[in-house]
Amino acid sequence: MSSPPPAKTPDKKSPSPEAKTPEKKSPSPEAKSSPGKKSPSPTGSPSSGAGAETTIEGILPASHWQPIQQDDDADSSLGDDDNASSTASLTSSILAYRTVHGRTFHSDRITDAQYWTPNDDQATEANDIIHHMLTLVQDGKLYRAPLDKSITRALDVGTGSGIWAIDFADEHPQCQVLGTDLSPIQPTWVPPNLKFEMDDATLVPWTFPQNHFDYIHIRYLFGSIPDWNSFIAQAFSCVKPGGWVESYEASCVFRSDDGTLLEGSPMDQWGRVFVEAGKKFGRPFDVVGDGLVPVAFREAGFEEVNEWEFKCPIGGWARDRKMKEIGEFALAGILQDIEGWILFVWSQVMGWSKEEVGVYVAHLRRQLRDPNVHAYCLMKCVYGRKPVSAE
Ligand SMILES: C[S@@+](CC[C@H](N)C(=O)[O-])C[C@H]1O[C@@H](n2cnc3c(N)ncnc32)[C@H](O)[C@@H]1O
Repeated sequence: MSSPPPAKTPDKKSPSPEAKTPEKKSPSPEAKSSPGKKSPSPTGSPSSGAGAETTIEGILPASHWQPIQQDDDADSSLGDDDNASSTASLTSSILAYRTVHGRTFHSDRITDAQYWTPNDDQATEANDIIHHMLTLVQDGKLYRAPLDKSITRALDVGTGSGIWAIDFADEHPQCQVLGTDLSPIQPTWVPPNLKFEMDDATLVPWTFPQNHFDYIHIRYLFGSIPDWNSFIAQAFSCVKPGGWVESYEASCVFRSDDGTLLEGSPMDQWGRVFVEAGKKFGRPFDVVGDGLVPVAFREAGFEEVNEWEFKCPIGGWARDRKMKEIGEFALAGILQDIEGWILFVWSQVMGWSKEEVGVYVAHLRRQLRDPNVHAYCLMKCVYGRKPVSAE
């Protein structure tokens, strides 16, 4: 399957996978206080967004979102705090997961790193769908760095379900692959050249020897890393001279080029809340919009730093067949666990109740499925090489 050509100017209907001129995210606080305006149309409108009551940075308060009547979507799948976790009887402290509204999160007995999505099957299945989507984007390729087939050591930081590491290990049987994560949620039947370890990547210095790996892969750690410069500096230290480090991140902000994503709509609010929550939480979410990764690569001392951007359609609205399929998988991944993605951030960081989150999610689901909204999110890959002369 061939890729559509790079987009020089945004195509309103069919986003290009290789947008050369990234659009910098800069949320404008557009909404002024307008008490009494509480029930916008589910997909928002200029009047609902621009005139409704807001708090900070254009964020509408939880009370803005009113229950959707007669709609299955209003049935939130959020669990009950009183539900016993399936792991409750296990004595191993590494499985003593935290529970928020019935969903499990990594154990805080291992490290105090806060991670914001659950670690249960629903969450990992969503990640696996997103992995498949990105594989489609890259025509089956797992990485962009020009790796030598003879590499012998690779690291996947924040490996999640291990799906990328498993595919990479299968493709490179001569290479010892290590996947690390806060949660021991990886499968046990894996290629013989792959192993998993629990490790908190925000703890510095990393415990791996210096100049150790030929390749380090980092994917979707937005909202997890307090200091990207320090984090990428650790990767620089542990990769061999001449070796490559590669990062893929997705923006938490939905955008449209044709004005179909309205200010004040649920999808618009999604990005604004994530950006604000990242400030409160001390771990930025819009890593792509803020351009943090390329800066961190250059600061660390990498050379041949390459940047590749992709506008990932959300939903099957693109005319191009391949983009349509990619958008459908992106939407399926989001819908697979939308509650899981927002639960911790909206409730623990922003202070919304479980019911308020459920009502907002119903609005969000409805807009996500609306084919008239031509939304996309920016994804960015950055890869660079440690100079051969580096110590
Ligand atoms: C969105 S998932 C992505 C998983 C995988 N990289 C992928 O692309 O399929 C992010 C993963 O990073 C892990 N993670 C978050 N913070 C971490 C940290 N400080 N150290 C290690 N892993 C972390 C989470 O537990 C989660 O499994």
